[in-house]
Order: sequence, then structure tokens, then C-alpha cells
Amino acid sequence: MRYFYTFFLTIFSISLVTGCQNTKEKQLSSVENSDEKWWKEAIVYQIYPRSFKDSDGDGIGDLKGIISKLDYLESLGITAVWINPFYSSPNDDNGYDISDYRAIMKEFGSMEDFDILLKGLHDRKIKLVMDLVVNHSSDEHEWFKQSRSSRTNKYRNYYHWWDAERGKPNYRYSLFDINHDAWKYDSLTNSYYLHYFSRKQPDLNWENPTLRKEVYDIMKFWADKGIDGFRLDAFGFAAKDTSFPAFPKGYEKNFMAYYSMVPAIHDYLKEMNKEVFSKYNVMSVAEGAGNSFEDAHNLVDESRKELNMAYAFEGVDIAKAEGYSISHFKKVFSKWDSAFTNKGWISIFLANHDQARMVSRFGNDSAAYRDLSAKMLNTFILSMRGTPYLYNGDELAMTNAGFSKINDYRDMATLNEYQNQLNKKGNIPAFLNRLQFECRDNGRTPFQWDNSVNAGFSTGAPWIQVNKNYTSINAADQEKDSSSVLNYVKKMIQIRKSNQVLVYGIYNLIDKDNPTVYAYTREWKGMKMLVLLNFSNQTSKVNTGLNLAKAKPLIQNYSNLNGETLQPYEAVIYQLLN
Ligand code: NOJ
Repeated sequence: MRYFYTFFLTIFSISLVTGCQNTKEKQLSSVENSDEKWWKEAIVYQIYPRSFKDSDGDGIGDLKGIISKLDYLESLGITAVWINPFYSSPNDDNGYDISDYRAIMKEFGSMEDFDILLKGLHDRKIKLVMDLVVNHSSDEHEWFKQSRSSRTNKYRNYYHWWDAERGKPNYRYSLFDINHDAWKYDSLTNSYYLHYFSRKQPDLNWENPTLRKEVYDIMKFWADKGIDGFRLDAFGFAAKDTSFPAFPKGYEKNFMAYYSMVPAIHDYLKEMNKEVFSKYNVMSVAEGAGNSFEDAHNLVDESRKELNMAYAFEGVDIAKAEGYSISHFKKVFSKWDSAFTNKGWISIFLANHDQARMVSRFGNDSAAYRDLSAKMLNTFILSMRGTPYLYNGDELAMTNAGFSKINDYRDMATLNEYQNQLNKKGNIPAFLNRLQFECRDNGRTPFQWDNSVNAGFSTGAPWIQVNKNYTSINAADQEKDSSSVLNYVKKMIQIRKSNQVLVYGIYNLIDKDNPTVYAYTREWKGMKMLVLLNFSNQTSKVNTGLNLAKAKPLIQNYSNLNGETLQPYEAVIYQLLN
């Protein structure tokens, strides 16, 4: 079992039935699923606001900081941003513990800043997707303060309480608690409350219709302000069997299967769709894709009117400290593509704020191959079927921080797990080693803007250390260098935007058993693209069965091309001409 957030992500992954449909079927069904929508064509850029740009020198990124970088966002060519939570929060979990859903976190600025930011984005034709964190709130939310004050308070039923006279409730696993116990005893009312995440993140009671209405009102508040979408944090846990039955010993190794995706979740999502989504032009993306093939379909099948797109973790979870196999990678992404051939839509990503850096996990962050492999990975994300999500900093090939001391980490889940390891006399050096590869703080170090102090992120001491390599990896240098990762990503974004085949075209894996090369075609309305990606540091041969002499390269990360012989981490997209 892995110890912190990545563990959660692993078990969020689902196993789908493998097997692609035959080509003819795929062509037909692809036409059915090519219903044009802005959110299918969107290129989403994820901003971790705490680490993006600090405007006032307190070492914490803020909304004014993002506003000062609007031109940078526009220059990337992206068409939407997803910004991690910026609501009022005591920041136990960096904003994923909300104390007021209608106010801005004081470290991040004011509602006026938000309005300016939204307008600035819209003026540049960039849409805004907000994080909706409503499986739980902060324990400092007024609802929870009221709820815990007495058993008869009208907010009591907004959360899950268990009166101690009934005995200790059946064990529930908490992801972030030091003891991984999701029930916390509260002497004030002699009761336990439920928190699947930290003690400061009590779970909201979705079985209560009044609570659900509060959530829809919050969503309408933001939708009325003009935002363009919601990312539903941890939604798979929202519905609960409130009898909290006992589960077999050791169930927590697979706790998702026991109590995520309780069937009522679909009723709640349908209700949310009716109350909110159907009334606004907003998109909705799940965090995860449920627990089964069926769940994934049900969540995003348009006719069911629940959510727009799934966000499956199985792909991003493949990379382990010991490495990963490209065959496995191909299998997983091909499987997910085939899952949504007919209906539904998926997100394509290789990193986010809960992951270590993409180039360090999936590519090669050595000086020799960092840029090449980052270009190759970005080519992958931007040439697959599904909405691409780029994580801030990956357009520069920012790498893992490589912290070696526990004091350098800030993530509450990591620090709690460290304490847990100490308590049970675990292997601390091994634990710290693993953090260097997989801790989510690796992906949260300040954005590297330039080679000035603190990488141009802040004039004050940053809340988490800047990666020492900022003098050689930063946006200012890369803007000036025509062969930089940044300029490559900008070009790749333009290619996706000007070729709808890369959005809607059917995906076909070729040279399936090639152990190092990922090769596929995308085909739509008479247009055909060939994508060749060498995932290894060795020269590799690919067998496309196509006449490359009749193909036009649209983008490549080496200046010279040798047909079916690919150089280390080579990426090339050809347009196939008849
Ligand atoms: C998922 C978010 O992505 C993660 O950062 C957070 O810690 C948990 N949900 C709890 O809200």
C-alpha cells in the first residue's frame, strides 16, 4: 500500500474490459460521438494558485498574481483554465477545506480581484473552470460550527454524526488522518463525526436535501458570476450508506470498492444537472471515473444528464519509482479511448497538483533528455482524443523538487503520514526516498518565471522552496529560445486548435507490440494524422505500414527525421497525404 495521496489515486483507477472495437464499428461510432462541444475542443491549463505568482510579497501566490500573468496564459494559446480552490479556507489542505464558499481566501485576494481575473480571462477568450469541493467542508465553516454545537442544532444534519451511546461506529478509512481513522470523537456532544480526509475536513451529508440545495445555490452563485465549469472534487464519496455497516477485516486496502460510488450518487448528479448544469453553459468534469466500466459510462453518458467528462487516474498512476512499461501505458490509454468511443468523453492528463512532476515520472529529467522527453509527453497529451489538461510548469519541463528533509515538505497528508511512520517505527529513510519520487509537493513548488531571486515567483520567502534548477529552467529564458519546450508546447497547442481531427478523430493504435514506441493515427472527415512517440532513451524502430514519403511532418522535437527510425524520446506528428 502506498502511503499518501498517490495511494488514493491508485485506487481511484478502475479496470475496464480491454479490447478495441473493430475499425468499421469505430468509424461509425466515432461519428456519433463527434457532436461538437466547446469543452471537447478546450485545451485546459491547470493553475495551482498558491504557487503560480505572488503579487504582494507574502510568499503565497494570489489572484492578482494570476492577473499579472494573463498575457502569458494568452500566449500559450490555451482556451480554459482550471484553478484549484481559492475560496476562504484555513488551509489545512491548501484550500480543499473551505470555510466560506462565497468568499475568496484572504491570502489570495478579494472578490474584486476575482471579478477582474474572470473578465481578464474572458477578454482573452479563456474560460474558467472552478474546483467544487463539496464532499466535505472545513471544520471552520459556519455550518460545522453550528452542527457540532448541539445535537438539536438545525445544521446538525449537514454532517455525519454518530452518538457515542450507540458505541463506536464501524471503522472507516481516512486518507489523511494520522491514524487513518475517519471517525473523530467530539466530547462537546459526546458524538463522532465522519471525515474521509483530514479531521479538519468533515464530510457533508448529501442524504440531506437541504444540504444539497445549499450546494446548488453556491454553484449558481458562481455560475451567475459567469464562470464556465466545475471540477467535482472527491464527488465519488458524497453519497453514503448512513447505516455505516461493518466491512470485512482489511477492507481498507480496497476501500473505494466498499463505499465510494454508492448508487444514490447518480440521483444527486442528475439533480445537480437539472438544478444547475442545464441552466448554464458550464462544463462539468468528475475527479475520477467511478469504480467500474459501468460507472464510468453512467457518469458521462449524455443521455443520462449527469456530468460531461470523466478524469480517469489509471493512466497517471502507471509511473512508479521503479519505472513503468510503455506497453502498459499504451494498453491503458487505448482501453480508455475505446471505453468512450460511442458515448461520453474523457480528460487526458499526465500530471496535476496531486502528482509529482510529469517529466520526472513519465519522461527523463536528466539534462540530456529532459527537454526532449517533455516535448514528447506534451505531444502525447495534445494529440489524443479527449480534452487535454496541462499542469502549470509542465510547459517548461519543471522537475521534481527532490527534497531530502521532512521539514521541506508542506503537504498535510505527507506530514501526517510521516508522524504515523514515526509512531509505528516505520522505515523513515525509505519513506523519505519514496517522497522524493512521488510526493505531491514535487508538483507544487513555485512556478519558475525567470532567474531572479525566488524564480520571479515572489519577493518574499515562498511558502514552499523554489526548485534549485530555476536558473536553468524558467519561462523568461524559454520565451527567448525558439527551440525551448515552451515554444514547442505553444506550437503543439496551435496544431491541435487548427486540426479538429486531433479532437474528434478516431484513434487507432498501430505497431501495438512495439516495446518502446507509442504510435497511433487519428482520422476524421478525410483527414489523417500519424503520431510517433519514442518513450525510451534508445534509438527505436517503428513499423507503421504507411508510406512516410507521402507524409508531411507538422511538428517534431528533432531537426532531422529518419522515417521509421526514431531517436531517443523523439516525437513527430505527420499529416498523411493521399
Ligand atoms: C482531491 C484534491 O485533488 C486533493 O488535492 C485534495 O486533497 C482532496 N481531494 C481532498 O479534497
